Amino acid sequence: MALDNITVIGAGTMGNGIAHVFAQNGFTVTLVDVNAGQLEKALAIISKNLDRQVSKGTLTEEQKIQTLSNLDTQTDFGIGVSNADLIVEAATENIELKLKIFKQLDEAAKVSAILASNTSSISITKIAAATKRPGSVIGMHFMNPVPVMKLVEIINGYGTDSSVTETIVALSKQLGKVPCIVNDYPGFIANRILMPMINEAIYSLYEGIAEVESIDTIMKLGMAHPMGPLQLADFIGLDVCLSILQVLHAGFGNPKYAPCPLLVNMVTAGKLGIKTGEGFYQYLPGSKELQVSDRFKK
Ligand code: CAA
Repeated sequence: MALDNITVIGAGTMGNGIAHVFAQNGFTVTLVDVNAGQLEKALAIISKNLDRQVSKGTLTEEQKIQTLSNLDTQTDFGIGVSNADLIVEAATENIELKLKIFKQLDEAAKVSAILASNTSSISITKIAAATKRPGSVIGMHFMNPVPVMKLVEIINGYGTDSSVTETIVALSKQLGKVPCIVNDYPGFIANRILMPMINEAIYSLYEGIAEVESIDTIMKLGMAHPMGPLQLADFIGLDVCLSILQVLHAGFGNPKYAPCPLLVNMVTAGKLGIKTGEGFYQYLPGSKELQVSDRFKK
């Protein structure tokens, strides 16, 4: 099945990264968001990230111009999705919002369209049940930063047609990514394994076993992780980490997934990591150096 026209819903970090990668690989992309300002911001970020690739020599100036010309934006949901062969939903990680979007997609998208969600933890089977075409609904979970990370975790809902999975696997390869197929259970694979590690790192800090920098350095130098788990939690967003742990905890009913009280407190206090300027580290405008947040300094 030819997938030429791609619509990405949601112009946040994941949405702009996904749009970037499709456009760079020659697809016609419509990025949809209700907020025109957010769309403008997303285009500026894509342009900046393309410049980064040009300056590294991994992309030519002509390819950058071509990529941008493959991209269009739209604030009208109906217009934005009507011509799409594939829709990738990358809206905020909120179940009510996602169910509403998929209900609308079911009405507005072409009958032949594949409906994918970039959800990091919401059940694909549940999302598919909001539509009358569960066979065409699938998870396409990209990792942040999308232009850099090679993985696409492909999640089969209970009723996803095998032909849809095959199409999405082939498409992911066309994007230069490595697809891995998983079944739809809480946290899928990526977050079922990643989040307990992050939670354990937060518990280690909470119990006073080691300081922020030691915990992260042990995992960076000892396990060759590009970021330590506490820095990664700040990068992902502490609110997102908490919500995924809650999905794991509720989904399996196993206390091993219970979120650390320190994580809960930080989210309640609005210390969500990079996006709010403070988490385990503090992110001062213009400063490139990573600094442990005052709260956790010795
Ligand atoms: N767009 C394009 N290129 C980018 C980019 C972006 N947004 N961000 C970084 N890059 C490129 C840089 O240009 C650089 O390219 P070269 O290798 O060609 O030089 C490369 O990526 C590395 O970037 P930097 O040198 O700026 O910084 P770094 O070496 O510290 O790497 C990082 C940054 C890639 C983010 C690295 O720290 C990393 O891999 N961190 C872990 C990321 C991770 O685990 N992501 C998954 C999070 S979980 C998730 O997304 C899903 C979920 O459900 C929670």
